[in-house]
This record gives sequence, structure tokens and C-alpha cells, in this order.
Amino acid sequence: EKGGYKHFMLKEIWEQPRAIRDTTLGRISLDSGQVFLAEMGLASEDLATASSINIAACGTSWHAALAGKYMIERLARIPVDVDYASEYRYRDPIADPTALGLLITQSGETADTLAAQREMMALGSKTVAICNVVGAMVTRDAHGTIYTHAGPEIGVASTKAFTSQITALFLFALHLAQVRGKLTSAESLHLCEELSRIPAKMIDMLKAVSAQTERLARDFSNARDFLYLGRGIHFPMALEGALKLKEISYIHAEGYPAGEMKHGPNALIDETLPVVVLATQDPSDAGSRLRYEKTLSNIQEVTARSGRVIAIAVEDQEEIGNLVEHVISIPRAPELLLPLLEIVPLQLLAYHIAVRRGCDVDQPRNLAKSVTVE
Ligand code: F6R
Repeated sequence: EKGGYKHFMLKEIWEQPRAIRDTTLGRISLDSGQVFLAEMGLASEDLATASSINIAACGTSWHAALAGKYMIERLARIPVDVDYASEYRYRDPIADPTALGLLITQSGETADTLAAQREMMALGSKTVAICNVVGAMVTRDAHGTIYTHAGPEIGVASTKAFTSQITALFLFALHLAQVRGKLTSAESLHLCEELSRIPAKMIDMLKAVSAQTERLARDFSNARDFLYLGRGIHFPMALEGALKLKEISYIHAEGYPAGEMKHGPNALIDETLPVVVLATQDPSDAGSRLRYEKTLSNIQEVTARSGRVIAIAVEDQEEIGNLVEHVISIPRAPELLLPLLEIVPLQLLAYHIAVRRGCDVDQPRNLAKSVTVE
């Protein structure tokens, strides 16, 4: 049942190229660059006039939501708010029937996420679900559902469901942008083509980084704490990398926006602290280049204090190799698609560290796959 893999989590990490392909299948045209999401059950009219989008989710799905905010705001120019589902109704959200609600949940049964959906509906919003389980509770009340086609996820730590959610959010953002006339057809086509190239790139990368992350796990599995840093859309990936490590290896880990280090966390840095930095970039994107330059100076701040940096970077970035102890190379991609690639080595690193520490990777202590109580 584990298909020759030692754990479901490892099997599911390797299934990601297939999961992303299946989530994309039939939804994009590589002739026109059009994205088709008729299953959302919302008229283009509703999508064209939505004044804002509220996303609610928990845990890993909340990290996907944060990445989705960057995608939707960047491509469709619609303001997006992201809430922890468990917090949404306690902040007395403001009723706005022109705001669209979006629930992201692998299981479709998470109690807090369902409660947030009810609150959104009570405030007059239409809701859309991104869900991995056909017919799950969240899909019953939603106007429409964008299914992720990850297949059943057995490991408690979410991996393929997460990258499938990111894929669905990218499609949703592209679709919104198209409905609202924010992209030329050449831009749409380019992004669709790039998305369709991700699965093959991911297969190559998995082969390349497997042994490396296993080696790194040997060096770092005794660390007491880990820090994960990122900027922009890479900050949610830092959060997700830290969550993966803490939930399966029981090592304390924190994700931080790289630029916040000097506002407090720099005090933690010493020669025992591993700092994982998402230092990827899309050199053809001016905003991405700028963000990358800033992240490089954050890396220098860490190394100046003897912190031990593991950097994730796109291939052929010589300057970074000169700065840090360890570099994990990943393939190039447009800025908004880099998260799909860069999260994979972080999943593998967490996995190999947990295995070395003798942890029950698929069934971490105190955790349940779906949290049906508030
Ligand atoms: C972490 C993890 C959890 C879930 C969270 C929400 O690896 O799996 O944080 O993401 O419990 O679950 P869903 O997406 O089913 O609502």
C-alpha cells in the first residue's frame, strides 16, 4: 500500500508531480491560455464584480491561503484577507455581500473552517471551497468547489494536498485575472505553459535533492531549534517548512519574514542555530530580483552572527554558494510558481530529520488527520 516507500509521507511527497498535473488537467488550454473553472458554479459576473476575497483555513491550508493572497492580488488585483478559520468569527467581520468567501480545506471537514463558512454566508457572501474530498461537508454549502486531485492523503503531515491547493489557487487567480481583463492572452498563455512544466521539473528536482536532504538531516537532526526565513510569497513557504519540521520531528521551529529578523529574532542566532532561507528568484521579474537582493543581505546578517544557513536557491546562483554553508538548488520558474518547487526540499528535510530521530512520521503524537472539533 505504501508502494515500496517506507512511509506514506514519503510516497505522497513523490506523488506531487502527478497531483499537480491532475489538478491542472482539463482546466487550462495550452492553445489560448484560458483557464476553465465552470465547477465553481459562480457566474463570471460575480467574479468580475467581487470587491474583495476573504480566505479562511487552518494549518497547512492556511499557509496555502497566504500564498493565494499573493497570487490573487498580483494577477487579478483584488484585495484579499486571510484569516485563521478559528479566529474569523471572533473578530466580528464586516458584512459585505460583494466580498467572496474562499475556504481551503483538504478534508472538507475541519470544524473551524466550516464555522467560518457559515459566518461568511450569514454575512451575505457567496463561498467557494478548495477541497480534496469529493462531497465533503464544505462542498455542500459552497456555491462551487475547485477540487484538488491529490488523491487520498494518509500521512498526517500534509504534502501533496498542499501543493495541489497552491496549484488550484494559481488557477483561480489566473481565472479571476482573465475574467477581469487583467492579463493579455500572451501573458495568460505564458503562465499556463509554465504551470504545465512544473511536474516534469519537480520530478527532476526530487531525484536531485533526495540524497542531499538526507545528508543534511544527518548534520542537523540534533538541533534544538530551527528558523525558516522568506520574503513575499516565499514567507508562507517558510511557515510551512517550519510546521512540517515541528509536527513530525518535534523540533521547535519558527517561520519568519526575512525582514523581521532585526526586529527581535536576530537575538536567537548563534552557531548552533540552523536557518533555512528561501532565497529563490525569477531573474526575469524585477520585483522578484529586488526581493532576492534583500534576502541575500538578510543571509549575510545571519552568517555574520555564525548562524548555519541552508539556502534554497534556483540553479546557477554562484553568489549564494559563496555566502553560505549549504545550498539546495531547484529549477527556475516564474515567481508565483516557485513555491511549488521550493517547498519540496523542505518537506524532505523534515521527513529525513524525523526518521533519523526515530519519530512516527505518518502518525505524529497528539495530532489527527482531520480536526472535527473546534
Ligand atoms: C499539517 C496539517 C494540518 C491541516 C489542518 C487543516 O500538516 O495537515 O495543519 O492542514 O488541520 O486541515 P484541512 O485542510 O483538512 O482543513
